[in-house]
Amino acid sequence: MSGSRIVALGHYQPPKVLSNDDLAALVDTDDEWIRTRVGIRTRHIAEGETLVDLAAEAAQKALANSGRTAEEIDLVVVATCTAIERSPNTAAAVAARLGVRSPAAYDINTVCSGFSYALATADHAIRAGAARRALVIGAERMSDTLDWTDRSTCVIFGDGAGAAVVEAQEDDAEPGIGPVVWGSEPEKGDAVVITGWDPVISQKGQSVFRWATTQLAPLAREACERAGIDPAELKGFVPHQANLRIIDAIAKKLGLADAVVARDVVDSGNTSAASIPLAFSKLVERGELSPGDPVLLFGFGGGLAYAGQVVRCP
Ligand SMILES: CC(C)(COP(=O)(O)OP(=O)(O)OC[C@H]1O[C@@H](n2cnc3c(N)ncnc32)[C@H](O)[C@@H]1OP(=O)(O)O)[C@@H](O)C(=O)NCCC(=O)NCCS
Repeated sequence: MSGSRIVALGHYQPPKVLSNDDLAALVDTDDEWIRTRVGIRTRHIAEGETLVDLAAEAAQKALANSGRTAEEIDLVVVATCTAIERSPNTAAAVAARLGVRSPAAYDINTVCSGFSYALATADHAIRAGAARRALVIGAERMSDTLDWTDRSTCVIFGDGAGAAVVEAQEDDAEPGIGPVVWGSEPEKGDAVVITGWDPVISQKGQSVFRWATTQLAPLAREACERAGIDPAELKGFVPHQANLRIIDAIAKKLGLADAVVARDVVDSGNTSAASIPLAFSKLVERGELSPGDPVLLFGFGGGLAYAGQVVRCP
């Protein structure tokens, strides 16, 4: 097996939108602080919808866009750090909702880098012959972890989901999902914390910011090297959507030439493991990327973990 490729993407966001002015009515903040420090204008917040609802909606759209059916899926992987139910896991619940029959189904939690981890494990399973066609989903209800009186976090995060249909390629095809570069700095794990049965997120914002803007560009570059592509040849760069200043700093260090850079954080906030497939799916839907375009995905955050790979646009 020569590898796997993304056949289609889909995304879903809950309809309720919170603006910066809405948040300024709750905590001591203002639109200008949020826009200049983080780049966010709005974020979507789930009300009646569960994590499984968000994930299933995105997966359903990806399936519809792929032209494949639920019966053809044999692996479901969900990247999330906001699953409340331990059993069944989110992947099994989504599979049941969609009518996927007897899939391997598991959740992955590497927080904001989760989608790139999940995509890598699906690619590896397909290469190993353990699966042929996968649904890979990033889904979060970050609002469940927010303290709405803490201005340092409640303005940053949002809810949503994105999904990809991934399938095996013919032996002689160029791999549509490049080698993953992944790892973590566990000694820095206390920089992003979500703990307890009623979890509340807290972070050392400046430490994460420094780490992201100084340590990650060489790792993102390595993902390009391993795929045999120069960053200047990329048509798209879809990093984790944490902060516009982080996105622009990494993009600048990479030396991109004419790549579209995802900046969905502006509209959606930080949706952790959902942010990459959400932003990628929107770029494809808007026609800003074309089939076959090389696109660098790069996730980073809690852990502190990171993962990235070059993929071919569906
Ligand atoms: C969180 C982040 C936006 C904060 O921006 P910052 O420029 O580092 O701001 P600081 O934390 O130094 O705070 C500066 C001041 O703004 C204040 N502040 C914090 N949140 C605020 C808000 N929403 N509105 C207004 N003021 C705010 C702080 O209290 C502080 O005030 P002080 O100087 O009086 O003490 C930024 O550090 C960041 O994006 N870090 C990376 C986070 C990340 O990527 N996390 C990944 C999680 S997966």
